[in-house]
Amino acid sequence: MNKILEKRVLTPEVVLMKIYAPRIAKKAEPGQFIIVMPTEKSERIPLTIADYEREAGSVTIIFQTVGATTMLLGEMNEGDEVYAFAGPLGKPSLAEGIKKVAVIGGGLGCAIAYPQAKKLHAMGAEVDMIAGFRTKDIVILEDEMRAASSRLFVMTDDGSNGNKGFVTNKLEELLAAGEKYDEVIAIGPLMMMKFVCKLTEKYGIKTTVSMNPIMIDGTGMCGGCRLTVGGETKFACVDGPDFDGHLVDFDEVIRRAGMYKKEEQGAREAHCNLFKQKGE
Ligand SMILES: Cc1cc2nc3c(=O)[nH]c(=O)nc-3n(C[C@H](O)[C@H](O)[C@H](O)COP(=O)(O)OP(=O)(O)OC[C@H]3O[C@@H](n4cnc5c(N)ncnc54)[C@H](O)[C@@H]3O)c2cc1C
Ligand code: FES
Repeated sequence: MNKILEKRVLTPEVVLMKIYAPRIAKKAEPGQFIIVMPTEKSERIPLTIADYEREAGSVTIIFQTVGATTMLLGEMNEGDEVYAFAGPLGKPSLAEGIKKVAVIGGGLGCAIAYPQAKKLHAMGAEVDMIAGFRTKDIVILEDEMRAASSRLFVMTDDGSNGNKGFVTNKLEELLAAGEKYDEVIAIGPLMMMKFVCKLTEKYGIKTTVSMNPIMIDGTGMCGGCRLTVGGETKFACVDGPDFDGHLVDFDEVIRRAGMYKKEEQGAREAHCNLFKQKGE
């Protein structure tokens, strides 16, 4: 079974867990994800492989407690076992040939961008990492991102860390100053990725985004994660999650992302009520 080896609460809403999963750790690559079910009755949810240690047989996940299933997982502790932990799923990110790259993470997207920056940095690429957060209290993985990049720029929407602005402001500043990147990798909220792509399109820089639509089976069978890329239907779970950002139909993805809001709200309320009844 998949025991929780380590649990760290990074911010009140973001939890890091190292899970014992030797077969996944052996094959995992940056860009891939797992599907987890905290208990036998839980929903299946996809989470990115934030890190792995092949020898220790551990896989790290970092998740935000946004709804019923992530809340339930976040309530589990070291020594507990998660019911199902399947993967690695999806295609690994392509890193070959990249000499200079800007890796951009928005909020929790930094947990997904970090392993990509780490791999590129380890391969000898020059990595400028731009990380954006609403405010300084919710900055995560700052030391890890610094170690995985040549330069790290942490931006906050409210300027509380002294660097006010969006990730797009910093990227535009770097590009206007003449920085030349082989590629930009952008991972975070849909709006952030959409606007990074609009900017890099102007400069003609290849841009890769990591898409996270609703996934159910994670194996290309259900069609839940479909999106349009370059006019063709793709499944994020098997054709991605990484795609050429200039070809993604972001408006369609944004429309589809809101489809289950009512059901998600109901499940979250039911979970919180159950927790209150238990007196916890
Ligand atoms: C490839 C991929 C990688 C991801 N990696 C991470 C990660 O590393 N860390 C992290 O915190 N989150 C990640 N997510 C999002 C994560 O799966 C959702 O936050 C989680 O499913 C929410 O479930 P819930 O029951 O707690 O909340 P809910 O209330 O059910 O949903 C909250 C929001 O989460 C999203 N969501 C819900 N169910 C799913 C689903 N089955 N598939 C995809 N998204 C869903 C929707 O946007 C929804 O509005 C990833 C999603 C994908 C597709
Ligand atoms: S999650 Fe079912 S096809 Fe991708």
